[in-house]
Amino acid sequence: MTEFKGVTTLRDPLTQHKLTELRDKNTQKHAFRQALHDIGIFLTIAMTRELSSYSHPIETPLTQTTGASLDFNKLAFISILRAGNGLLDGAISILPGVPCGFIGAERDSATLKARVYYEKLPPNIAHKSIFIFDPMLATGHTLKAIIELLKAKNAHSIYVGAALAAPEGLSTVLSTYPDIKIFTASIDEKLNEKGYILPGLGDAGDRLYGTE
Ligand code: URA
Repeated sequence: MTEFKGVTTLRDPLTQHKLTELRDKNTQKHAFRQALHDIGIFLTIAMTRELSSYSHPIETPLTQTTGASLDFNKLAFISILRAGNGLLDGAISILPGVPCGFIGAERDSATLKARVYYEKLPPNIAHKSIFIFDPMLATGHTLKAIIELLKAKNAHSIYVGAALAAPEGLSTVLSTYPDIKIFTASIDEKLNEKGYILPGLGDAGDRLYGTE
């Protein structure tokens, strides 16, 4: 398997177990949703290892000590609609205090480039660490457009959490933005002619919301 600089693959047995549930076409919607939620948690844990915490005094019921906390003013989660919400659910289940944004993008049939049609971001994106959630890093065109948008707003550092990534999409994104760090449960083989990831898991949004 090709290795990509800046990409962390979660190869532990629990993540791979959940990923296998996602891949299996016989997995029903509720189990699919639960597995994507859980992978959202695992990705968030891996991504937060990149952050620093601040020390501050706290009191336990017995004595004083020093705590280590994450600064939610310096962090934002962004879900790429609509399947990103499946991962975001897991992320906010463990870090409910983090502000969340949503971006919708679609391919413009004339230019074949991704066009952002919806954007609702937390205030003061500038100088925050941003965790972008999108289960499927396929061609990478949408992600590139979103990174461009966030960089134009002076986002401090950008991390991407994806259940699956295709080598083509990783090359596309990282050749333009080598400073981005990407976390995934698998780098799959390739894209098919319709831009689906192989072996993949199908259409993540359809399987999450039962719209197929
Ligand atoms: N989006 C999906 O939902 N699945 C793919 O395989 C690629 C993009």
